[in-house]
Amino acid sequence: MKRRDFLRLGGAAAGGAAAATSPVAAQDGGNESGGGNATGNQSGGGGGGQTTEVAVGPGGQLVFEPAEVQISPGDTIRWVWESGGHNVAPESGDWGHQPIEDEGFTYEHTFESAGENPYVCTPHASAGMQGTIMVGSGSEGGGEEEVDPEEMGVPFQAHYVGIATMLTMVVSLGYAFFLLKYGESPNAKGGNN
Ligand code: CU
Repeated sequence: MKRRDFLRLGGAAAGGAAAATSPVAAQDGGNESGGGNATGNQSGGGGGGQTTEVAVGPGGQLVFEPAEVQISPGDTIRWVWESGGHNVAPESGDWGHQPIEDEGFTYEHTFESAGENPYVCTPHASAGMQGTIMVGSGSEGGGEEEVDPEEMGVPFQAHYVGIATMLTMVVSLGYAFFLLKYGESPNAKGGNN
């Protein structure tokens, strides 16, 4: 009696899992083709990057906030002076704003190539007023969680892993179901009847 109920329960569970899985698989396929579109947009639109703000001297403190920023090539940093007497002086490279500015000034720069871009505020460098703009390329920027995975070309692999995982689950459930239903000995069946 008990075993028969368990088998019925197992059958329902396996059926439910199979039914619930198929729409997910179909949806996954749709996302996969969508990933192709995202990749095409990225390679086509070089100027459509995101803009991140960095506060210069917020609250009169001698800091850039945030001091370290991770962006993708083509993204823009906008420095917003929140107190006076600061500048943005790169350690190397053809960017930055050397003149000392007052509160309310803004300076923007778009970083096109990957790499680390350390900079300081010249008057307050000795006080530790420094920052770094880290520009990661799509393939090398692994381990960075703030970057949208869709922009990094990852979704294809991720979806294959997801599909493989679901297939494995369905196959395992199905195997267990048939093993339980047809794999029992004739003696056990007689005992239930
Ligand atoms: Cu400063």
